[in-house]
Amino acid sequence: MQRLPDTPIPTYLVESQASANAHLADELSALLKERPRDLILGLATGSSPVGLYAELVRRFEEDWIDFSFVKTFNLDEYRGLPSGHPTSYRTFMAEHLFSKVNLGPRNTHLPPTKAEDLDAACQAWEEEIQATGGIDWQLLGVGRNGHIGFNEPGSAFDSRTRKVELAESTREANARFFDSGDEVPTEAVTMGIGTILEAKRVRVLAFGPTKADVLARVLRGEDDESIPLNALRRHPDAALFIDEAAAAGLRG
Ligand code: GLP
Repeated sequence: MQRLPDTPIPTYLVESQASANAHLADELSALLKERPRDLILGLATGSSPVGLYAELVRRFEEDWIDFSFVKTFNLDEYRGLPSGHPTSYRTFMAEHLFSKVNLGPRNTHLPPTKAEDLDAACQAWEEEIQATGGIDWQLLGVGRNGHIGFNEPGSAFDSRTRKVELAESTREANARFFDSGDEVPTEAVTMGIGTILEAKRVRVLAFGPTKADVLARVLRGEDDESIPLNALRRHPDAALFIDEAAAAGLRG
């Protein structure tokens, strides 16, 4: 793993996704040992974290780590999918992590999407995060347009948890998880960029050629507030872990 020089957000080039996953799993394992009773994690969905979750499951099965007292808050959830829908983020988290480790349903939180008064429910959800003492370690992926969570380009850097419309490019990118493109919801609820910036540590995984363009714009370009990932320039303990393919635009 190599720290890239002169990047506005600390960035590590990894030789493989597995090496990024092992590094983050080590960091989390150490945090779990230090704070076994009150660690609060912010979690992400998408393809990027799948390998990390598998590594955490492996460590749990081998008795290295224990999630009994951990609480989790996920970044985002689609709106308009019935409970238990195969592509809801709740189902994704159950399949990749929650059902495979000792994380009980009372300790896992996804943003509210069905409340009649959604604004009030989002505010209550934020208050719930704050009541725990706040997120210690937040995992993020990044959209090809630079979105974080479902904060699409143009989202305010002080935005809070709220209902959002998905960009067409995001719906197209995520259509691979659905039977047809028409089924991809048009709305979601996401933690705001301001909410994400309050996490004590933020760790971003970005792999593959589809992330190269936006990473070049963020890591080699000006501080442009229309790209949500740029918000992490303002965070005191954020780091990106990217592979060769995602780093392709950084040369020269
Ligand atoms: C989705 C999620 C984001 C995620 C992004 C990247 O739109 N809402 O939280 O970071 O996709 O996904 P992937 O990791 O599959 O590239």
